[in-house]
Amino acid sequence: MSVASIHWISGPVLRARASGPFALREAVRVGPQALLGEVVRLVADEIVVQVYEDTTGLRAGTEVVGDGLPLAIRLSPALLGNIFDGLLRPLSGTGSAHVAPGMRAAAPAALAFVPRVHAGDFVTGGAVIGEATGATGRVQRCLAPPDAAGTVVRVAGAGTCLDTDPVCVLDTGGGATRELAMSHAWPVRVPRPVRARLPTTTPLVTGQRILDSLFPVAKGGRAAIPGGFGTGKTVLLEALAKGCDADVIVYLGCGERGNELAGVLEEFPQLTDSSNGRPLMERTVIIANTSNMPVAAREASIYSAVTVAEYFRDQGLAVALMADSTSRWAEALREVSGRFGELPGEGGYPAYLSSRLADFYERAARVDTLGAGEGSVTVIGAISPPSGDFSEPVTSHTKRYVRAFWTLDVKRAQARFYPAVHPLQSYAENALEFAPWWAAHGNVAWPRLRRRFLTLLDDEARLERMARIIGRDALPVRQQMTLFCAGLVNDAFLRQSAFSEVDRVCAPARQAAMMRLLDKFIDHADAAVAAGVHPDALRALPSLRPLQRMAEDIGDAEIRRLHDLEAALDREFADLLHAAESAHATDG
Ligand SMILES: Nc1ncnc2c1ncn2[C@@H]1O[C@H](COP(=O)(O)OP(=O)(O)OP(=O)(O)O)[C@@H](O)[C@H]1O
Ligand SMILES: [Mg+2]
Repeated sequence: MSVASIHWISGPVLRARASGPFALREAVRVGPQALLGEVVRLVADEIVVQVYEDTTGLRAGTEVVGDGLPLAIRLSPALLGNIFDGLLRPLSGTGSAHVAPGMRAAAPAALAFVPRVHAGDFVTGGAVIGEATGATGRVQRCLAPPDAAGTVVRVAGAGTCLDTDPVCVLDTGGGATRELAMSHAWPVRVPRPVRARLPTTTPLVTGQRILDSLFPVAKGGRAAIPGGFGTGKTVLLEALAKGCDADVIVYLGCGERGNELAGVLEEFPQLTDSSNGRPLMERTVIIANTSNMPVAAREASIYSAVTVAEYFRDQGLAVALMADSTSRWAEALREVSGRFGELPGEGGYPAYLSSRLADFYERAARVDTLGAGEGSVTVIGAISPPSGDFSEPVTSHTKRYVRAFWTLDVKRAQARFYPAVHPLQSYAENALEFAPWWAAHGNVAWPRLRRRFLTLLDDEARLERMARIIGRDALPVRQQMTLFCAGLVNDAFLRQSAFSEVDRVCAPARQAAMMRLLDKFIDHADAAVAAGVHPDALRALPSLRPLQRMAEDIGDAEIRRLHDLEAALDREFADLLHAAESAHATDG
């Protein structure tokens, strides 16, 4: 056990003279309270330690004791349904919660174990050794740690025990044995190994129309939500956490105000999963480091969160990680780096900001796990650029690593148009890889419809610029009609309230039906213009109002009402065209 003596302290960073060998990234305990820290730099006989707790009261000469092991977190089936700080220490259920000094990990939890291996079986890393059922009633797979391998000597029978108790003993060769529990420790900063990374093919269904239908993200993909102050990042991330079709949600509240997170902490335990009626917390792990909690733990929280996500992925599950916000994480990185005395780079951030962001986002993937088949981690990170400036370093570097970019627009938010995702400033690379998926989910024409909507919205922006100069009425009738249709797509399709009972989640089938209906409307409108109908005449259509309101009025269970609406529109347009033709004939 190595020991060092503190001679310099600055906030969460301290330097100590070592009288034994320390390793980089080794976990240490500081002072009589055994505060948790990590060796982040070694210089000759001096160690630099980042402390994950309040360092007030520490003094020169205080002892730092090495663990001999890298900083690790304990991964257990008991994580689901609980709330932790950035180093996976349990928080009680309030926003102002704090961790008792020196606390290491959650207390062992009792779980019901059912073995899935027998004596004599050869077990390799990541293999499923049994099943565990915790307080939530959800059955999970117990995994052998990725670095374990050996022949099963003994395995516990079905029964309840603590997640730290040995349930399986392996003969690892040479007379050595290794005990496995339902949980295992894993170093926070090391990605968990996989058999292979797989190409992404399936979208993460978010239930948000503008995302699923226009800018989809893959299961195993990466997305960013940049947005200025109050543009709806938190509400959108929460909507995704509640409504997306992942098996497990890891929600990381990183450096946000305590009261903002208190909302999540209060609300989540009361919500039910609309797909199965079970409490939403059963599939959720919340990791919280609010702005008033130690800054170094915030820096670590992003790695803890992604490690937890990988752990559930390794059980063969689809996991979605929501991080709110990566800018606050980057600020923690900047603050800690400043204390190290590192030379600041762009925006005061350390030069390794970009590579750290890459390390984080690159852990998102669809994979063939070591022992449980296919699994995925999707990472969605909010970015809060200072004063909404998207050229700042966190936004610009993140852009290089994500494939879906959902920009929240201040103007839309001010107009209370939610979600305020800007259709022209957002993108999803390779979105068309999901065409087969959409075809199998009721939208064969999806690539064409998507392109039509995006083109229309692009035309709208251009025509609006022109209309501001010459006036809307001076635009040719065809262009006025384009504006009319684009307005309809915005109001009837892109707008979606996160607080609406009917519309907060929109199933793919309903998205497809709505897209088809609007496509039909645009066709009709085109024909009407060709027949000399003025856009103003469309405002009088009895079905226009129901069409504008369809998202709020017609839920996932009533999609056939959209067909009725379509039939009504067909009739009304036929009448309109008929009247136009008669008027034309009379004129002639
Ligand atoms: N999808 C939505 N549906 C309905 N209302 C919304 C939606 N998104 C945002 N809002 C409204 O906007 C307000 C601000 O949203 P939110 O707190 O998510 O913004 P933010 O970008 O996280 O802000 P901050 O920069 O302070 O973190 C919400 O309180 C809510 O009233
Ligand atoms: Mg927020």
